Amino acid sequence: MEHYTLSNGVPIPAVGFGTWQMPDNETGYDAIRYALDCGFRHIDTAQGYGNEGTVGKAVRDSGIPRSEIFLTSKLDNPNHGYQNTLSSFARTLELLRTDYVDLFLIHWPNPLQFRSTWQQTNAETWQAFESLYAAGKIRAIGISNFRTHHLDALLSTAKIMPAVNQIRLCPGDSQDALVACCRSHGILPEAYSPLGTGQVLTVPAITEIAAKYGKSPAQICIRWSLQNGFLPLPKSVTPSRIRENLDVFDFTLSAADMQTITGLTGCAGAAKDPDTVPW
Ligand code: A2P
Repeated sequence: MEHYTLSNGVPIPAVGFGTWQMPDNETGYDAIRYALDCGFRHIDTAQGYGNEGTVGKAVRDSGIPRSEIFLTSKLDNPNHGYQNTLSSFARTLELLRTDYVDLFLIHWPNPLQFRSTWQQTNAETWQAFESLYAAGKIRAIGISNFRTHHLDALLSTAKIMPAVNQIRLCPGDSQDALVACCRSHGILPEAYSPLGTGQVLTVPAITEIAAKYGKSPAQICIRWSLQNGFLPLPKSVTPSRIRENLDVFDFTLSAADMQTITGLTGCAGAAKDPDTVPW
């Protein structure tokens, strides 16, 4: 599997298996096992998804050496702050049945519960991330749903630059200014909802391009993501789709088709504003 290299030198498989909205039951378990069987070696979960235990069990049962699987989790909103980060991270390790994670992210920059003090709270949270990183419990640390002003505030006290910013990126929602800001700091943009939670898949321009390449609309979206230098995290519980979502390395979209897809503004809604989300 192709990979990106994070700013601290850690390799990360170029397509990850997203688990947002993946049930914490047999269906979710089977999907993760199937994804691993198909060759996925990068699984993206979060404390807030409520399925870390299922991810941990599936990874363990797969028999694939832990060192060959890249595991990401994210700090849930109520767990911000130095001590809360440390204690909730310990629980994440237990649920994932591992003694380290490859990547740990601050899930949201401005949780409702800390909205009046988010700058200070993020600074303290990041200190905990830095100490877990120094202790070898996390191989790379990063952020999610951060906009430029959240990143600027974090960088005023951070000692370690975030390695990634995981944001919503799909055809029609390419967040150009934020992506440029991330790149200027060497931060890899990870794409959640790379299929626009499925909404992009029926857009005529996408289905036409898919027919031309003999690929599915989902494969076109994932390829668009990769050719933009994003790291896509498609989610599916359907075996045929899981397999297809990794089969994206044998074709290249032309510059003209990339441009057409990038130009599909508004076809799949927009990323939520982290300063006003009700959580
Ligand atoms: P399902 O999980 O039922 O297979 P995103 O990754 O942008 O959040 O999109 C996830 C949605 O897209 C889910 O509803 C998922 O359905 C669907 N999906 C994922 N992969 C494919 C695919 N290859 N073809 C069609 N739909 C897909």
